[in-house]
Amino acid sequence: MNKDGSKFIIQGLAGKRRLVGRVRINGAKNDALPALAASLLCRDRLEIENLPIIDDVTSMLDLLTPLGVTVKKITARQFELKAPTKISTKLHSDVAKHLRGAVILTGPILGREGEVTFPHPGGCVIGARPIDAFLDGFRVMGATVREFATGYHLRAPPGGLRGGEIFFKNQTVTGTETLMMTALLARGRTVLKNCASEPEVINLGHFLIRAGAAIRGLGSSTIEVTGGARLRSGQHHYRVIPDRIEAGSFLILGALAGRVVTITHCEPTHLEAVINLLKSMGAIITIDRHTVTVRGGVAPRPLRAINVTTHEYPGFPTDLQALVGVLLTQATGESLIFETIFEGRLSYLHILKEMGATVTVHDPHRATILGPTPLNGRHVYSPDLRAGLAYILAAIVAQGETVVHNVHYVERGYERVEEHLRALGVDIVKVP
Ligand code: EPZ
Repeated sequence: MNKDGSKFIIQGLAGKRRLVGRVRINGAKNDALPALAASLLCRDRLEIENLPIIDDVTSMLDLLTPLGVTVKKITARQFELKAPTKISTKLHSDVAKHLRGAVILTGPILGREGEVTFPHPGGCVIGARPIDAFLDGFRVMGATVREFATGYHLRAPPGGLRGGEIFFKNQTVTGTETLMMTALLARGRTVLKNCASEPEVINLGHFLIRAGAAIRGLGSSTIEVTGGARLRSGQHHYRVIPDRIEAGSFLILGALAGRVVTITHCEPTHLEAVINLLKSMGAIITIDRHTVTVRGGVAPRPLRAINVTTHEYPGFPTDLQALVGVLLTQATGESLIFETIFEGRLSYLHILKEMGATVTVHDPHRATILGPTPLNGRHVYSPDLRAGLAYILAAIVAQGETVVHNVHYVERGYERVEEHLRALGVDIVKVP
């Protein structure tokens, strides 16, 4: 995690549509993290392709190496991982406490070695980010959980984890991924209910099935796993899917300040919620296989206000909510945002308000935006990955200069973001 305190200086377009160009979409951060964890389930080498070159991937590798996993770099986006027969059971807390994705490793370690020690996993400030669904699931499988001030120690029963029936109180993405992998190392059958069906969950499940896992119900709310398998991944590669959140981010930027912005190497079938929302606002979108082009509406026809409710996949993704919030400040009329997944994901609206937006935050989940309003540049501090990019979008549409601090948060999940933006015509400079 490069906490180098670097920042972006951006000259705003003052609401003009100037951006033109193409952006190649990288592999999905939230598919890369479970893919790296899956190396702990494989008897032989696991080759992972199309990894994004971002800090969160580096952090995950920094967690796997001390466990004993050998990591061989084939190319910048292709790694080969090999877990030894016995791995360490302690997660490196300095790294794990800043990376929510670290929680995905806990189940596989517990299932393989019979115990695991880890800090409360960190991540962004978007909410409490509890892990009760993981701990409750491990308890169903027979594990004992001891909580310390610094984290947790879990121990499997003497005969190893045993399958059971687990109901998720929330449709948890990493919870579904982690318990699905853990169930493969438990004896007997496990039934997971109220599962997440994000494309990243499906891609992980498809890989595990190709490597020999008995998994049924992928994509539905109930996933059944038969345990006892050690996977043979040798003949299979894990190909990380295109990042639907990065793709959606650039589509929203195109609708906000684009003349013609095209994204390539994406998966349009994973983008239906954001494409339909942008079309409803008046953006013009054309799709061709793995390429999507957005025209931000021909001025002076401004974008129309709309109500946005975030929802588990295939609904509108919470990770794009802050970016759409910026877009709604430039849409004509009153829009309602209803953030149903996280309770701390509206805080960016206070900054947009200081930049000139007309915003009313009703409660931790709902806010109203009245547009269009001009935004004025200022110093802003990224609190997390997605709000950080939202501030960059606000800076692009604003009048005057904006300095976006803490861009290391943005670089956790967006590869070479300032290069992509500059290629589209954004006046952005990174300063240490
Ligand atoms: C994944 O986080 C993503 N991260 C998040 O992306 C994304 O915002 C989130 O899913 C929702 O789509 C990765 O995949 C690495 P959840 P995750 O468990 O799995 C509650 C980004 O910017 N919950 O699906 O941690 C939780 O508080 C990140 O790329 C519990 O109550 O999210 C939330 O309200 C941010 N107990 C809801 O469930 C638990 O044990 C959904 O969270 C687990 C979750």
